[in-house]
Formats: sequence, structure tokens, C-alpha cells
Amino acid sequence: MSESLLIRRAGQLLTLRGPEGARRGAALNDIGVVPDGAVLITDGVIEAAGAAGDVEGLAAGADNVIELDAGGRVVMPGFVDSHTHLVFSQPRLLDYEMRIRGADYRQIAEAGGGILSSVKAVRTAEPEDLEAQARRAIHNFARHGTTTVEAKSGYGLDETGEMKTLVVLAAIDGQPLEIVSTYLGAHVVPPERAKDPDDYIDWMAKEMMPRIRRQKLASFADVYCDQGAFTIEQARRYLSAAQEIGFPLKIHAEQFSHTGAARLAVELEAASADHLEQADHEDAVALGHSSTVATLLPGSVFHLGLDRYAPARLLIENGAAVALATDFNPGTSPTCSMPMVLSLACTKMRMSPAEAICAATLNGAYALRRGHLMGSLDPGKQGDVILLNATDYREIPYYFGVNLVATTIKRGVVIYQQGQVSGGKEKESAADAR
Ligand code: NIG
Ligand code: FE
Repeated sequence: MSESLLIRRAGQLLTLRGPEGARRGAALNDIGVVPDGAVLITDGVIEAAGAAGDVEGLAAGADNVIELDAGGRVVMPGFVDSHTHLVFSQPRLLDYEMRIRGADYRQIAEAGGGILSSVKAVRTAEPEDLEAQARRAIHNFARHGTTTVEAKSGYGLDETGEMKTLVVLAAIDGQPLEIVSTYLGAHVVPPERAKDPDDYIDWMAKEMMPRIRRQKLASFADVYCDQGAFTIEQARRYLSAAQEIGFPLKIHAEQFSHTGAARLAVELEAASADHLEQADHEDAVALGHSSTVATLLPGSVFHLGLDRYAPARLLIENGAAVALATDFNPGTSPTCSMPMVLSLACTKMRMSPAEAICAATLNGAYALRRGHLMGSLDPGKQGDVILLNATDYREIPYYFGVNLVATTIKRGVVIYQQGQVSGGKEKESAADAR
């Protein structure tokens, strides 16, 4: 017998409904606000979302309906966080404190911090400890209204470390959030390969990528193209190999230096170009004419104490499909909070609250090539919905640093309810962020 969940009395229902495809330009503001709305989810799939009268009429004819009263509050699609480095073992508190005191990247690395300290931590971690760390983080993502998380490898780099990370991601997929895995073997050159980065790329292309693809352990391949990581030529080689093997592509592009990676993403028809803090007018025009989603990660700019945020307005004016994500990682963006990312997007990048919501849901889904499955409340899409302690959606970015998420629903199942213990095991605790 089928089972339905009826969400009633949404004071503001955001359906995000509209034409197919990632949203661009003025359409980014179209979040489909329905004043007195309801949502009906049957067997995990959205059956109807819209005016209360219509949806409730449909629910009246269905059997086995559980009702959830939104009490006049905001109801919208769950956040799609399309860029995280979920599995990292340990926070980098040394980096944090040193940076506050004024240390630069090199000094932090010399003191034993930086990306390579996470590589060491992941390589030496037991798989069950890595899994426990990822599960704690996932619980925190769910509390902040995220229903799908992209997660990259890239702190193992060698065969054991990367496979261990990807296997952890496969193990936690669907428990309860959906995980979309990405192979980021080209995060940095591992120390034991420092003498020959090109050889490292060949090894990834010949050994790692085919194996990961065969075992279906990743849906995307990603490269970090920047000073201290991979050059544009190396990125091109890595991505072309990945593409040949069948991976859709993502690129960490134009984060600290301008390398041409955004335009490489467009040329290779990558699913997304991520970061883009240094992107220029030409990059914006190229992205605007492409299907590559421009994924902005203001959490990392904030945490690093920098002032150069990605040029969101320039990108939007030139027609780029802008998405927002946390970049959750121990070095540059230790946050699971999409609501906080929305606050940064609005205040620091001058996106409107509606644009930010669209970027964090529908366009995030397109950055994962899953726009047909999630990101809006269209009939036939997954029943991924959140209820907020707000009566106006603009409150979400407005109350910065405040988590207004009251209920998170994944495929029609309540996976988080504010103030309740979820799954019977985990206690809600601020210390669970890692
Ligand atoms: O997306 N830029 C490259 N990678 C991460 C940071 C990784 C780290 O510091 O551990 C990022 O910001
Ligand atoms: Fe990243």
C-alpha cells in the first residue's frame, strides 16, 4: 500500500517551479511563492505542491496519509549542497589560530598544518573513525536543512587513502542524506610524488579513474587548479582523461589566482566551475554562454578572513547559472550551514534572498546534473522538503548565524525534527559539527 505525507498550512510555500534547466538572470528570482500552500508526497515522490485547496483535495482521496502542520511557516525544497570535502578526520584548529594571528599559508604548512596535515590524518585514520566523523557531519547537515550533499575525496591521494574515503561515502549514502561522490585525486600533489606531478596524473588517469568508475564509487572528477596545486595544462590532462573514462567534470577554478580554469571548464563542458573569486568579465561571459554552473563558496572567503568574494552580480548579469554551496572542509570552510552561506551570499555578494535560495536548491541540483530529480517541488521529483521557523523566506539569510530549520524531510521521511533525537541514536549537539 502506498504511503503519503501531507504538509499542510504552509504560510509561504516556495515551489521553485519553472521551465526545465538551471535558472539564470532575472529568472533566478523566480522561487514560486505560494501564499497558503501544501505539499503531498507519496512513496517518497512529490505528487503535488501548490495552493492548499488543490493539494488537500488530492490528499483526501489518498489512503494512508500522515499530516504535518506547518503552522503558517515557510516550506521549501531541501538545500542541495553541491560542493563539500566531507571526509577529513580532524578539524584544523592549529591553522585557524595561526591564521588569526597573521600566519600565511607557508608558515601554517611549516608548522604541520595545511592540506597535507589532513592528508596525513586521513591516511592514518581507521575506516570506522572516518565513517563516524562523516556521519556526525551529515547529522549536522540535516539539521541545517540540507537533503543532498556532494562529497569529494582528495585527502587520501594515494590508492588506500582515496579508496578508503570513497568507500566511506558509499557506506553512508542514504543514511539519511543522499551523497554524490566526486574523485578529487588532483587536489594537491602528494609529497611522495612531488618530484613528478605529471607521473602522478598519469597514474590517476590509468589506474585510479578506471577502477573508481568500474566500482561506481564516484559520479564526478574534480581538480584543484591553482598555485601550489595543479597548473592549467595538468588540469586539462587530468580532466580530459576523466572525461574519456566517462566522468562528468568539476573544477576548483580561480580561487586564489587567475589560471584560466573557468574557461577550461566551459571548453570541456564541465558540470560546474567552483569558487571563482578571481573570475573576470571574460570568464563571466563564457560561463553565461555555457551550461557550466558557476558554484560560489563564500564560506571559504569568510573563514579565511579575505575580502574578495566571487563577483556574483557580474556572473548573474552575464547569464551564468549561479549555485551556492558550503565547501565544507577543515581548512577553509568548516561549516555545514547553507543558511549561513545564504547570509554571506546576500550581504557580501549582493545576491537577493530569492536568488540565493534558487542558487542553493535548484541550481545546486543542476551543478550535480540532478536537476530532474531534486531542487524544486515539481511533481515527480524526490520529496526533499524543509520547514522553517520563519513566516517570510527573507528571514533565512537575514537572521545570520541562526538556524531556522525546524524539520528536514528526505524522500518523504522526516529525518530531522528540531528538539528531537533523530534516528534514536544521535543526540543533537553543537559539538557534532565535525
Ligand atoms: O575548496 N582549494 C582547495 N581545496 C579546499 C581547501 C582544502 C583544505 O584547505 O583542506 C577548498 O577551499
Ligand atoms: Fe573545495
